[in-house]
Amino acid sequence: MKTRATAMAPASVANVAVGFDLLGFSVAAAGDEVTVERTSKPGVEIGDVTGVVTQVPKDSAKNTATAGLVRLAHDLDLKFGFRVSIKKGIPLGSGMGGSAASAVAAIVAANAVLDKPLTEADMLSYSLIGEAQASGSYHADNVAPSFKGGLTIARVRSIDDRPRVELVSLPAIPETYTVLVHPQLILETKTARGVLKADIHLKSHVEQAANLAGFIAACYRQDFDLLKRSFADVVIEPQRAHLIPGFHDVKDSAMKAGSLGCSISGAGPSVFAWVRGRELAEAVEKAMIGAFARAGLESKSWVSSLTDAPAAKVIA
Ligand code: HSE
Repeated sequence: MKTRATAMAPASVANVAVGFDLLGFSVAAAGDEVTVERTSKPGVEIGDVTGVVTQVPKDSAKNTATAGLVRLAHDLDLKFGFRVSIKKGIPLGSGMGGSAASAVAAIVAANAVLDKPLTEADMLSYSLIGEAQASGSYHADNVAPSFKGGLTIARVRSIDDRPRVELVSLPAIPETYTVLVHPQLILETKTARGVLKADIHLKSHVEQAANLAGFIAACYRQDFDLLKRSFADVVIEPQRAHLIPGFHDVKDSAMKAGSLGCSISGAGPSVFAWVRGRELAEAVEKAMIGAFARAGLESKSWVSSLTDAPAAKVIA
């Protein structure tokens, strides 16, 4: 039996313009790696933290990678402990699902060293407990795609004392590429959630519901025209755009260069676009980077295929 395992969980884009706190997809960009080792002493201990982020909470109940493990060890009344090392590939406060990736990778790695494997539903639940340390609430729009891979719609249902996730994988339209651009800026999820009004206008609700319905139908029908018409966030993006310097120029540039839709990646500041075909995606990428540069921001970017978006996996 394995007593040590390393898992990788990919970056992800949450909200996807029309599905605030629900929709998300994984991206073959950066990822987080977590190594979990069984120890004879019960408890969860944080070992090395390396990579693009090293300043993380050292209290295992407050760390996104380990909070789920603390709860898991308690629920299963484990007689052994875990030593956890984290290698962060996803920048902090980037809107690329870094907290979710750490939480997911830790649970997937821990699962590989348990005597009895967890169900998928339990892995999602414990990952969510970890992720909530960063975002302050339960929403699975990063955790679900980072765990499962591809495009997902995930709803959090609390059945008992633990969050339960209902996950549906959606088909990605072939030939669709994601452009993900990360400006060199940190935006905390809690800050970006803090600017949101608690209520929305009925008219906006109807428009956003129509866009979400059209978006999902377009995925199943492989209908690029319907996708493009539905790809608009009338609720969240207008409230957050001011947090991202140059956002409107970045979006206009992406649309002019031929993208199907462009919006804020998760809570931002990264911005993503969906594009038909790799060549056009590369042109959109260039346009978006140029627009961020006009706002005085350097950025890092990735172009990846949506149809083979990665899932979390044990890598060692
Ligand atoms: N749906 C979340 C938000 C994603 O936009 O705040 C970040 O956790």
